Order: sequence, then C-alpha cells, then structure tokens
Amino acid sequence: MEPTIRYINDWKCLHFECIDSTNLYAKNAVSESGPNNFIVIADRQTNGYGRNQKNWESSNTKGLLMSIVMPVFIDITQLAQSTLVLAVAIQRAIYQLTKLNLKIKWPNDLHSDKGKKCAGLLIENVILKNSELNPKQHILVLGIGLNVEHELTDFSQEIAKIATSLFIETGVKLDRTLLVTTILENVIFYFQQWQKQGFSEIRKDWIEHSCSIGKEIIFFNDNKQQEGTISALSPTGGLIVRLSNGETVSVDSGEILFKL
Ligand code: BTN
Repeated sequence: MEPTIRYINDWKCLHFECIDSTNLYAKNAVSESGPNNFIVIADRQTNGYGRNQKNWESSNTKGLLMSIVMPVFIDITQLAQSTLVLAVAIQRAIYQLTKLNLKIKWPNDLHSDKGKKCAGLLIENVILKNSELNPKQHILVLGIGLNVEHELTDFSQEIAKIATSLFIETGVKLDRTLLVTTILENVIFYFQQWQKQGFSEIRKDWIEHSCSIGKEIIFFNDNKQQEGTISALSPTGGLIVRLSNGETVSVDSGEILFKL
C-alpha cells in the first residue's frame, strides 16, 4: 500500500493506513536512502513489536504508531543513552499537551501514577552496508508506541490489566497533527541538546520524572538473576543497584522487574 506523504517542517512524513511495522519499514527505507531524516506513521500495524521481540498491540486505530529516523553524531559509548533521551522527550511532549505527568520506568517506558503503561519506546540502530559513515555517525530509528484514545475495552484482556492511555488518564481526545508535531519538536530539541551539550542536563530531567529510583527490583546480570534496590542513575545512564550484600553494581541494559 502506498503511503500519503506530507511534510512537518522539513521532515518528510510517510503515513500508512496499515503496515507490518513502522520500525521495520523505516529500517528498510534507510538501508536504501542513507542517512535522511523522515517519519513513518501507521494507523494500524500487523507486526508491531517492542523490546525482546514482544508483540505491540496495534490492530485498532487508537494508538500513535510512529518511527522517527534520526541520524545522530555521537560517540558509540554514549549510544545507549538515546533511550533515556527519547523517554524524556516524549514525557515532556505529553506534559506540554495535557499536563499529564507520566513517570519514566527505566529505561524508557512511560507509566501513569498507578504504574500502568501508556507508552513503549524502542530504538534500533541501523548499520548500513558498505557504509562510509564517520564512526561517530549513527542512524537511529526511534519507535514510539503511544496509547492515545483507547478505552479499557480496546485492549486485549491481558493488556488491559497493565495498560492505560492518554484518554483514560485525562478524558481528552487530542488532535493527532498537534500530537505528532509536539512529539517531533521535543525529540529534535532533546536529541540536539544531547549531541551538543552531552547527557548531564537530560539525566536531571530523567531523574526528576523517574519512578525507578528507590524501587526494589529483580534483574539479570552476567546471566544470573539478582535482586537489589535502585539507588541512582549513573552519569553515563546506567542504573546503580545496591544488592542485599551491600555491594553496588551498574546495570546498563536488559529488562528489570519491580518487586511487588
Ligand atoms: C516496548 O514497550 O517494548 C516498545 C514498544 C514500541 C512499539 C512501537 S509502535 C511503533 C514502532 N513500530 C514497531 O513495530 N514498534 C514501535
């Protein structure tokens, strides 16, 4: 199916009624076109996915399903921070539009006060074949799945227990173009700040809106399950976790589970 093409400022925006996954489409398109900025949006996806290849429910048209192709210039050692940068950008965009203060769960889920998930973010780094890119140049596909107009009955039974939407939280139906434009503006702002000034200011914003610090968690480190309490976010973006034996470890990737 051919997309409708429009422009938001200088950004080409490809809008599909239905597609397998906006991230998959964006990754394939980048491999052909090289490092350009563009956006892919779909009303529905047949194969939307999240971290660890988990399915992302997207069969109705109530969510925002969007991938932003963002070439960045950054040292490879800092690349993992991009997930935290994106979480801050989306948190701010939603706050600007609705005054809803979503909480960030490490690394980049956005939850309501009651711990229900409203948005999931998935960043993929596209490696171009025969690339002549500078080693600091990377092409990121920023996948954003945001529950917008859902009522509880729009989710499957399993997901309804753990999910919420902007409509459920605020009672307001947002204008889609305004939502996409505000998200894009914030993503551009925070990704520029990150590349020009580093991570320290964004780290402060992330900590301010985090629901992770102080929480007891279960996580996997060196292939072993471990338990501890999150005590801080390190200056480079890893979680500092205090284990029950008093030892401190840094968790830089992977899934964490909050203990109930
Ligand atoms: C997660 O919570 O694990 C991340 C979910 C990311 C879902 C979005 S929906 C738009 C984009 N296309 C995809 O296939 N995935 C992302």
